[in-house]
Amino acid sequence: MSKKLPVILDVDTGIDDAVAVMMAVKCKNLDIKLITTCHGNTTIENITKNTLSMLALLGEYNIPVAQGMGHALKKVREHVSVHGSNGMGGYEYKNNPLKALDKSALEATHEVLQKADEPITMVCISPPTNVANLLLHYPEDAKKIKEIVLMVGSNEIVPEGAIPYKEFNASVDPEALEIVVNSSVPKVIISMEMGHTAYFTWKDVYKTEHKNDFGKLLEVIFRQYHDYHVKNGIATHDGCAIAYLAKPKIFKMADANMTVEYFEQLGSGVGVIDYEKTPNCKITKEVNVKKFKKLYFKCLKKCKTTQEIE
Ligand code: RIB
Ligand code: CA
Repeated sequence: MSKKLPVILDVDTGIDDAVAVMMAVKCKNLDIKLITTCHGNTTIENITKNTLSMLALLGEYNIPVAQGMGHALKKVREHVSVHGSNGMGGYEYKNNPLKALDKSALEATHEVLQKADEPITMVCISPPTNVANLLLHYPEDAKKIKEIVLMVGSNEIVPEGAIPYKEFNASVDPEALEIVVNSSVPKVIISMEMGHTAYFTWKDVYKTEHKNDFGKLLEVIFRQYHDYHVKNGIATHDGCAIAYLAKPKIFKMADANMTVEYFEQLGSGVGVIDYEKTPNCKITKEVNVKKFKKLYFKCLKKCKTTQEIE
């Protein structure tokens, strides 16, 4: 079997993050060295609790989790979450034995990078606050990072004078995104169009529910996930980021230049793409939906839930 890809995963668990965590730990060619939590879909406390719950339910007791930033780097902006009351559609996993490390995401990430005997892939399926914070505090770590894969922004060109859609991860902390896009580290952008294209249909949700206990849980929390772009199903933004790591060839990519632009009407900033300027990232343009879902169900099939789902 080919060598596993060492990964640090930053999450704001969140319903589509839960799918991504499941795929990340079940993909045989990924080695998850650390999971860090970041503010976003709900409070940082809920996000850490939700992440630990998913790992416990997946029987993954040996992946360290470190809690990260509870707010944006420079400016806290009000934002609406579409992930239910606690970020997990209200689902609570009782008496979880797992605990987060007693060190911050910043320190835990720095330690893992410094100890690594090869560059590590960082995946950010949350507002890029923790990643930016690392680059600010430990700039020397940039050379220990193979690439940063971010679920953020759109691959659509913003016409002159138009107001773009504010993708959540970018708009919650655009200043952090600016730091990351301006860094020298190779970047891969998983644009929101992927999760809107490779969304789970109700048939996929039915198949998920009847796969196993973990699938039954996903079906319960999916009911509370309301991405406005996906009316007849479940967006798969964060799962697409993991699929890119596991099977990059199911995506069509383009070289592009991402900058962060601020729009008064949005009260925030967004990642704006230009395909003519000097590239500073690769961005997803298309996804093979059939192959994405084949990977998802292959991962789901491996899940053995260790506790009855209430
Ligand atoms: O815009 C989609 C992104 O925002 C996903 O990562 C979702 O979990 C939310 O964090
Ligand atoms: Ca997320």
